[in-house]
Amino acid sequence: MSTPVKREAGTPLSDAATSPKHTAPGPSSPGPASPKSKSPTPAPGSPAPEVSGVLSGAHWLQQGLPEVDEDELDSTLGSDVESSTASISSSILNYRTLNGRTYHSDSVTDGEYWGPNDQKHLNALEIYAHGLFLMLGEKLHQAPLKDDIKQAIDIGTGPGYWAIDFADKYTNCEVIGTDISPVQPTWCPANLSFQIDDATKEWTFPDNRFDYIHIQFMNGAVEDWTELYKQAYRCCKPGGWIEHIDVSPNILSDDGTVTVGSAMDQYGKVLSEAGIKINRRTTTSQDGVQESGIKEAGFINMTVKDYKMPVSGWPEDPKLRQVGHCAFAAISEDLEGVIQFHFGHVMGWSQEEITTFAAHLRQEMKGMKMHGYWPWKCVYAQKPLDA
Ligand SMILES: C[S@@+](CC[C@H](N)C(=O)[O-])C[C@H]1O[C@@H](n2cnc3c(N)ncnc32)[C@H](O)[C@@H]1O
Repeated sequence: MSTPVKREAGTPLSDAATSPKHTAPGPSSPGPASPKSKSPTPAPGSPAPEVSGVLSGAHWLQQGLPEVDEDELDSTLGSDVESSTASISSSILNYRTLNGRTYHSDSVTDGEYWGPNDQKHLNALEIYAHGLFLMLGEKLHQAPLKDDIKQAIDIGTGPGYWAIDFADKYTNCEVIGTDISPVQPTWCPANLSFQIDDATKEWTFPDNRFDYIHIQFMNGAVEDWTELYKQAYRCCKPGGWIEHIDVSPNILSDDGTVTVGSAMDQYGKVLSEAGIKINRRTTTSQDGVQESGIKEAGFINMTVKDYKMPVSGWPEDPKLRQVGHCAFAAISEDLEGVIQFHFGHVMGWSQEEITTFAAHLRQEMKGMKMHGYWPWKCVYAQKPLDA
């Protein structure tokens, strides 16, 4: 019989269970722009969008570029707003550069994954992974693993930073990292190997193989999470653990500083709507899919931990401030790469609209007035010993 789900606050400084606020726009705030005539890339059989309050790309062009208020900016950060501005002036070249971003090969998967696989994006992922590690209390896992585990797998390993650290820590454990892109380093611990594998297809691993299955930051990549968790259940040893850490794209604030219609507010809304359109939701974490899917797959002894990742260095708490600096540095490295697929390819925004929006978002993140954070959730659970 399964034990009740334990719910723990992962980030100590604030209670993630408190309801975050959005402040309604004041009289002078812009209302939603009229819908764009340009039609987005249609997704076959995709359901109607469900996210309300999504502003169009044209809205951001009407706003123009944000004015830089030097007093408001975090002086510890670089001049990313300016670099974004500079990229607009060479728009044609930028369009080519943005469209020239590389993505995974179609021969590996029939699904479209939103993340580029070029060095620029990998750089952003590296910084982000460090911020995540700090946010998670400098622990590689939350599940209570024994020291002598023998087999572990990291699904959607990306450049493999987590898998490398994990293999270094558990030297007697054979670790496998899988991904649809061959972007992993060739230098890695002897007990770690990488495989190109689509996790949304039937897994090729034998039943009851792994002591630990780790999934981190794969939102927007999977159509049917419950099916994936069922594969994981089959391949997990009785008594072994699954752990899935993921993020909601919606930037929230607990003090109402992330206002409706702001770029921070719109970032999550547009990503949510785009995910719905292509049937690969970006809101898996906030929708409770980790809990429901992992349970439905058959895992028990579930623990849920909530975290908050500040979008920049606004917190006073030094540790969270550091997490925020990492998040901001990562998004500064490749904001366009993060939003290009959903905003451009799915929602049909032009490059100029994307770049203008990105300038507003950077400006808001860099300013210290808006106390935005991304909610993260870690869910871990165990395959029954008698399974
Ligand atoms: C945002 S990155 C996160 C990488 C890594 N887990 C981390 O935390 O830094 C998501 C990764 O999932 C991979 N991915 C997307 N769809 C996948 C699939 N169907 N099967 C395996 N990997 C997939 C992407 O190629 C990308 O490397």
